[in-house]
Amino acid sequence: MTAMPIPPAPAPLTAPPSGPPAIEMTDLRVDYGNCVAVDDVSLTVPPGEIFGLVGPNGAGKTSTFRVLATLMKPTYGEVRLAGIDILENPREARRIMGYMPDLAPVPSDLKVWEFLDLFAEAHGLGSAAERRQRIDEGLAEVGLTDKRTVLCKTLSRGQTQRLVLAKTLLHRPKVMILDEPASGMDPLSRRNLRLALRKLAAEGTTVFVSSHILGELAEMCSSLCVMNRGRLLASGPVDEVRRLMGRAERTLTVVVLDRAAEAAAWIARQPGTDAITTHGLRLTFRFSASQEEQAALITGLVQEGLRLSSFEEQKSTFEDILVEVAENNQTA
Ligand SMILES: Nc1ncnc2c1ncn2[C@@H]1O[C@H](COP(=O)(O)OP(=O)(O)OP(=O)(O)O)[C@@H](O)[C@H]1O
Ligand SMILES: [Mg+2]
Repeated sequence: MTAMPIPPAPAPLTAPPSGPPAIEMTDLRVDYGNCVAVDDVSLTVPPGEIFGLVGPNGAGKTSTFRVLATLMKPTYGEVRLAGIDILENPREARRIMGYMPDLAPVPSDLKVWEFLDLFAEAHGLGSAAERRQRIDEGLAEVGLTDKRTVLCKTLSRGQTQRLVLAKTLLHRPKVMILDEPASGMDPLSRRNLRLALRKLAAEGTTVFVSSHILGELAEMCSSLCVMNRGRLLASGPVDEVRRLMGRAERTLTVVVLDRAAEAAAWIARQPGTDAITTHGLRLTFRFSASQEEQAALITGLVQEGLRLSSFEEQKSTFEDILVEVAENNQTA
């Protein structure tokens, strides 16, 4: 095994589908004293995927990523990146992996290109001219070409995020681990990030990216997993996970002008309705179905001749949704 230098442009990925998964975690556990941050998580990410990790604050996203990035040893469990056992071969794993931490320290008194050059040198990316070319490519990829010669400390938060992303891309990693990369980015930067990640995935790079915002990940990922309190609650194609989470989302309240008992009986007969309570003319119930089915439910009420004076949808909190997703998953 040769350690350095890393070739600046590895051959395009031609691994057959039968090759090793890009990321393979088995029974991963991370404890901090009494706190179980990652609780026996097993997950496989195929090559070339943009795979999302969504979960609220404290879910265990950063702890998982720090283990993958070889910055922290798990309590137990096994992790392989492109077939490399990262606990046995952390140096080899680091060569093929790029990690963008959630709060990346950026030296304030270096110019943007100097900061990138430090890392380009550390990765052994060839001569000064070759490094310069790679740095310029990286800056173009994140839309920071015009900031090449400014001091890092003059960058805004979102621009700093983009600079750190450019740093993560320098050695063209096969597996990218991005911890909340879009936080602090404006909508245009987020769109550019999405496009940049898609391009990388099309070239065979695998991206594992976290956020606590489902919508943000759903826009950029092909598949997602959901984590809460250290546990993996759901994992699969974006639409499937979204459907699971969407189904758990709604409590509906209907107020009728009269015939409340009749309305309650009709609602109870409709598929997807549950836990109906009646307070006078106000009926509250859970509804586990799509938006289209919700529209059909409202139309149906009206067609029954029931007179609605108001209709309201309450969104559950993220925590409620996660609990329900976990329960649905267990019974699925
Ligand atoms: N260094 C530490 N020492 C003790 N406990 C920690 C440490 N780092 C994280 N934790 C705890 O581990 C749990 C998971 O934290 P982690 O940072 O992995 O979550 P996260 O999903 O990244 O959250 P966030 O969305 O806030 O970034 C939390 O309960 C947190 O308090
Ligand atoms: Mg975090």
